[in-house]
Amino acid sequence: MITPVLLCGGSGTRLWPLSRKSFPKQFVPLTGSDSLFVQSARRLSGEGFGPPLILTGSDFRFIVTEQLMTAGIDPGPILIEPSARNTAPAVLAAALWAEAQDPETLLLIAPSDHAIPDAEAFRAAVAQGVPAARAGQIVTFGIAPTRAETGYGWLELAGAPGEGPVPLTRFVEKPDAARAAEMLAAGNYLWNAGIFLFTAATMVAAYEAHAPGLLAPVRAALAQAKSDLGFLRLDPGAWGLAEEISVDYAVMEKAKNLSVVAFSSGWSDLGGWDAVAREMGEDGTGVATSGAVTAIDCRDTLLRSDSEGLELVGIGLSNIIAVAMNDAVLIADRTRAQDVKKAVDALKKKG
Ligand code: GDD
Ligand code: MG
Repeated sequence: MITPVLLCGGSGTRLWPLSRKSFPKQFVPLTGSDSLFVQSARRLSGEGFGPPLILTGSDFRFIVTEQLMTAGIDPGPILIEPSARNTAPAVLAAALWAEAQDPETLLLIAPSDHAIPDAEAFRAAVAQGVPAARAGQIVTFGIAPTRAETGYGWLELAGAPGEGPVPLTRFVEKPDAARAAEMLAAGNYLWNAGIFLFTAATMVAAYEAHAPGLLAPVRAALAQAKSDLGFLRLDPGAWGLAEEISVDYAVMEKAKNLSVVAFSSGWSDLGGWDAVAREMGEDGTGVATSGAVTAIDCRDTLLRSDSEGLELVGIGLSNIIAVAMNDAVLIADRTRAQDVKKAVDALKKKG
């Protein structure tokens, strides 16, 4: 039995204006009728999976329960992080919580900002990783790289990819452009999908070895956690002392017991509008549309209207992202899609 750990505490600012502080991208139906969070929960339900352990922020707790209830998925415990401190403290809280039940619990960290169309193939890949995870490995899932992406982690394989997990010689999180180009050319690297399979005991030991400073605050936050309307609220004082860092930097780049299962059935991180445009199924001209929109002679452009009764028309556009909501409109050069984060920061300052 595998316990999925659904991480859904991110703020998703690069998908503004669809993604908002109080309702970030993982809870929005981006590519289908279900939100990415629900898609993630569904993908990891059924035979072989127990109820999911969920980690999220206080603002999102009722969105989480409402979306799971609507989807007919029974949640396991829902741990509330008093503040977002990135994934390292969240993963440790999950591992410590599970360790207290049974140190051999198999945990599968599942981000909620991904599209994986073939859930069956994904579950088969997870099953391939189970023996290695039981034997003390941290199993990652690797995607064949298609560009020198600097926003992902890169996995260096110690051998040729085959059936089942292959040991890793290196984990490189978010390389600079030159390094990413080198790794793409080298050919023995995969992208890290951000999904990890391990036992609770293995992960706690990895933190003891590589990120010992996180143990005291996260242990204390759990020990002093309060039950509140069915949620387990981590202690804010202790949690606030945990370093804000991702699990990739805190643990994965340093761990020696990493393996990878190659996954070739379609995966994308919907981290920004460029990726969403790709996933929304572009036609031959690279145009992706959603809602009441008309595109005339456009190329490589996303036009999306999420405002009822608002017609969005693009004429002769090339490499543009246009997203219209009731109270905000984004128009951006597609190559600058990652800078939407900067716009959100600027808006925050304006108040
Ligand atoms: N509960 C909780 N708390 N979840 C969080 C927090 C937090 O403080 N911060 C982020 N998350 C969630 C996000 O909602 C997302 O589902 C997941 O954790 C991963 O966080 P991202 O911030 O999206 O990470 P990333 O995309 O930059 O990088 C990771 O994913 C890449 C693939 O998508 C890394 O694992 C990379 O190595 C990997 O290539
Ligand atoms: Mg991401």
